[in-house]
Amino acid sequence: MPTIVQGAGPASKRHLTAMVRTDLSKPVSLAIADEILKPSSSFFDYGCGRGGDLQRLTAMGYEARGWDPAHRPDAKIRPADVVNLGYVVNVIEDPAERLEALRSAWALTGEVLIVSARPDWEARSVLGRPHGDGIITSKGTFQKFFAQEELRAWLDSGLSVRSVAAAPGIFYVFRDEVRAQSFLASRVRYRPVPVCRPRVTDVLYDANREAMESLAAFVTGRGRLPEAWELGNNGQKISDAFSSVKRAAAVLRRVLGEKDWDGDFAAARDRASKDLLVYLALAALTGRPKASRLPPDVALDVKALFGSYKAACEQADLLLRQVANQRAINTVCTGSPIGKLTPDALYVHASALGSLDPLLRVYEGCARALTGAVPGATLIKFTRTAAKVSYLAYPSFDQDPHPALSVSLRADLPRLHVKYRDFSASANPPVLHRKETFVPEGYPGREKFSRLTRQEERAGLLEEALTIGTRAGWQRRLDELGYRLAGHRLVRAANES
Ligand SMILES: C[S@@+](CC[C@H](N)C(=O)[O-])C[C@H]1O[C@@H](n2cnc3c(N)ncnc32)[C@H](O)[C@@H]1O
Repeated sequence: MPTIVQGAGPASKRHLTAMVRTDLSKPVSLAIADEILKPSSSFFDYGCGRGGDLQRLTAMGYEARGWDPAHRPDAKIRPADVVNLGYVVNVIEDPAERLEALRSAWALTGEVLIVSARPDWEARSVLGRPHGDGIITSKGTFQKFFAQEELRAWLDSGLSVRSVAAAPGIFYVFRDEVRAQSFLASRVRYRPVPVCRPRVTDVLYDANREAMESLAAFVTGRGRLPEAWELGNNGQKISDAFSSVKRAAAVLRRVLGEKDWDGDFAAARDRASKDLLVYLALAALTGRPKASRLPPDVALDVKALFGSYKAACEQADLLLRQVANQRAINTVCTGSPIGKLTPDALYVHASALGSLDPLLRVYEGCARALTGAVPGATLIKFTRTAAKVSYLAYPSFDQDPHPALSVSLRADLPRLHVKYRDFSASANPPVLHRKETFVPEGYPGREKFSRLTRQEERAGLLEEALTIGTRAGWQRRLDELGYRLAGHRLVRAANES
């Protein structure tokens, strides 16, 4: 039974830390997006506060229960597939009780424990006096702010596990190492936009359209033919209609056109091999699983794409060794066909990450192992001269012709340090130009971005690169030369009215 502290100290004020939520909390919505929390999973919110997450999840059809020592003391504490310990450990001032809360939540966990705590950069915005390893706030509550690696180290030593960074301040702890590996592999896997459309009608294809489309999507994503079980119900349909996946694939090849199919297959194989190498290189950071502990679908990828696990691991090791070589990083930055290269960095739109050279992907993966996914990151900056990767959020990237930087998060790899900067309230934030240079081909609006850049170049607006980098500097330049922007079009200011 968990300890419930009473008295006049900060422990008696803990109930005040629970906020009224108008939306799902960050860790819970992330767990849904990451398919950690599925509609079929049972969920228990340990330290649920006022129960905002529970209400919303129940309304969405999840089986969600929770307990809180202050707000729901009489609720039953019960095991569940997914347990959430959301922003609880940071309000407990006694380190022994904090660990006890963590271990109690872990003891209830069937599959995945989600642990979140307030990150260290939030400390700047909270006034308080020092108390133990945290502060007492003006409300009399305790807050401990965790650096990303500090939280990971505390989880790993407290539970004897290897936790996975899900996002800054949020970690997943998997009960089963195979499930953890499945999650890590899926995180770097290419997500196909099905591009294969049949050009000729084929009776067999049409009669089994849904199953055949799932087969095409699998091949495009994984670069190999699946086993029937990997397609779920569609696998059964394919076996019934064609007797084997191989035969179904032969029909698909005829329907889609042999040349197109072979070209798509080769490209998919190349992409999937790179995805797998990136996964295996990153898996080495936390201890690569033995071949027998690989998720069954990943084991099939390895066999089809590399022949053996040993061969795949050797190639992944080569890649990982290069990550520590800043010159090699600089060389791939310089040669990257994607992204904007400046004297000190390569900037790439987040949607292009999966298409980068595998070395840069592993390098970024090392940063992500430190920070977790950074929701809202628009651009990724690879510093060329030092081992630093930054995630930059430009919330109005698509709509604003010169979007402003809102927040940045920089991972300093050698120091295992994460630095956060918030520009959202700044009157003069940095702004972007030449947006098309950051995005991959086919990105919606890319042509519109290029057109604007050509207009701005012709008008001589982009010549003063040093002074136009901030909102005020850019506005001054527009005013000086007598222009204004109308959406992604440059117009003469004098033409107004
Ligand atoms: C910041 S609130 C977070 C509430 C909720 N998880 C959310 O994200 O909205 C912290 C909660 O932790 C609860 N709490 C404090 N000590 C606890 C303990 N030892 N075990 C479980 N929960 C605790 C408090 O009552 C409070 O409701």
